Amino acid sequence: MTYRQCGTSSVQLPALTLGLWHNFGSVDDFDTATQMILRAFDAGICHFDLANNYGPEPGTAEENFGRILRENLASHRDELFITTKAGHRMWPGVYGDGSSRKNLLASCDQSLRRMGLDYVDVFYSHRYDGVTPIEETMQALVDIVRAGKALYVGLSKYPPELQAQCYAYLREQHVPCLVSQYPASMFRRTSVASAEDSNLSVAAKNGSGFVCFSPLAQGLLTTKYFNGIPANSRAAKATGFLRTEQVTPERVEAARALHAIAQERGQSLPQMALAWLLHDPRVTSVIIGTSSVAQLNDNLHTLDNLAFSADELLRIDQILSHEGVAM
Ligand SMILES: NC(=O)c1ccc[n+]([C@@H]2O[C@H](COP(=O)([O-])OP(=O)(O)OC[C@H]3O[C@@H](n4cnc5c(N)ncnc54)[C@H](OP(=O)(O)O)[C@@H]3O)[C@@H](O)[C@H]2O)c1
Repeated sequence: MTYRQCGTSSVQLPALTLGLWHNFGSVDDFDTATQMILRAFDAGICHFDLANNYGPEPGTAEENFGRILRENLASHRDELFITTKAGHRMWPGVYGDGSSRKNLLASCDQSLRRMGLDYVDVFYSHRYDGVTPIEETMQALVDIVRAGKALYVGLSKYPPELQAQCYAYLREQHVPCLVSQYPASMFRRTSVASAEDSNLSVAAKNGSGFVCFSPLAQGLLTTKYFNGIPANSRAAKATGFLRTEQVTPERVEAARALHAIAQERGQSLPQMALAWLLHDPRVTSVIIGTSSVAQLNDNLHTLDNLAFSADELLRIDQILSHEGVAM
């Protein structure tokens, strides 16, 4: 594993992070979940990304992760970097959703209980909810750190115009934003564009680390949809967030063309798609989600080749610029 400095902090994070959004809930196979966590840890992936609502059922990814830690990794807490978030719908009633102080403080306590932890390494505001003043949300994050329940704070999916304001507030409170988390993949390039106002550029300018989520566009950047939607794929699952209508002929065609370039490079398509994100040194880590140990093993080989020639980058850009490919 290679480790990268998270923004201007001293924290090192592995170039690959394992996320528990799908595949770790009560509807999933617990043994496979355990094997994936242990394989990741053995391979040097010490960074695990969760949220209060991951499952389904919401909360069960944290419960399962807590159980896996207790049963297998209890003596390794200081080697692990565990993050969680709050801000999406989690419990009934008006306080179970959004980015209010009320929601964040209760959520943090609930997450710690579910995982059986004294603290998390990062507590994120999962999203800007469009209503709560950012000062209220940021102060809640600061107070969570001051209470010893998180070591650092993070932002997820804040629009660029609010990102800089959040960073400034947190800096003034001496709890700088360690890490920012955004959707980014070959099919979703806006957040990692070189433009000065992209989320990545704003984060880098403010010294925040940057992690990319859904780096394989939830599985679209693999070969699995080349001949329709296979049973057991995320698009086929009732509990999956990838909708069948997002598996379009244009994207499958683009994935085929990208696969041809990956083969020339001696890589699988997922490896090339992950490498394409990590090619930018401002990206701290990509958060992968896997449904099997075989997928995890495949993705680990990404790090064997992160270099792209100018010609490869140009050909990739041409494929991604076709109409109907961007998500
Ligand atoms: N902050 C936020 O709002 C937010 C939102 C979304 C995600 N996230 C974070 O990002 C993490 C990753 O997101 P994601 O799960 O959407 O990531 P992803 O890597 O884009 O998609 C993961 C899916 O791709 C397929 N896959 C992965 N590696 C493969 C391989 N080598 N070969 C074939 N198929 C492969 C699997 O699909 P199948 O299941 O079909 O096998 C897997 O479930 C989440 O777990 C979460 O921690 C954060």
